[in-house]
Amino acid sequence: MKAKRLFETKCSECHKTTQVEKKPPNSEAAARALVARMVEEGLTAKEDELALIARYLAETYGAKPKP
Ligand code: HEC
Repeated sequence: MKAKRLFETKCSECHKTTQVEKKPPNSEAAARALVARMVEEGLTAKEDELALIARYLAETYGAKPKP
């Protein structure tokens, strides 16, 4: 899965990806905010890659499908 690979490569540049498990984003908005904060820390990726990572995080850690 492309999004997972992006997450694993981009988000392990500065720290382990298990950082996310300690404080998982619990909604898509939280996932986007987290990714945006990492961009401020120096993460570089294309817009569409950031969007994919945010969606992946939301699907994996947060946001249960809406009823
Ligand atoms: C350029 C370096 C860098 C990259 C790349 C990076 N991070 Fe971080 N990350 C940091 C730093 C520095 C901190 C600690 C400071 C902080 O918490 O704001 C941190 C902290 C975190 C935390 C825990 C802190 C919290 O307060 O919520 C999470 C979760 C996290 N990063 C997720 C990610 C994810 C997801 C990605 C990929 C989209 C990513 N990081 C990519 C630098 C980076």
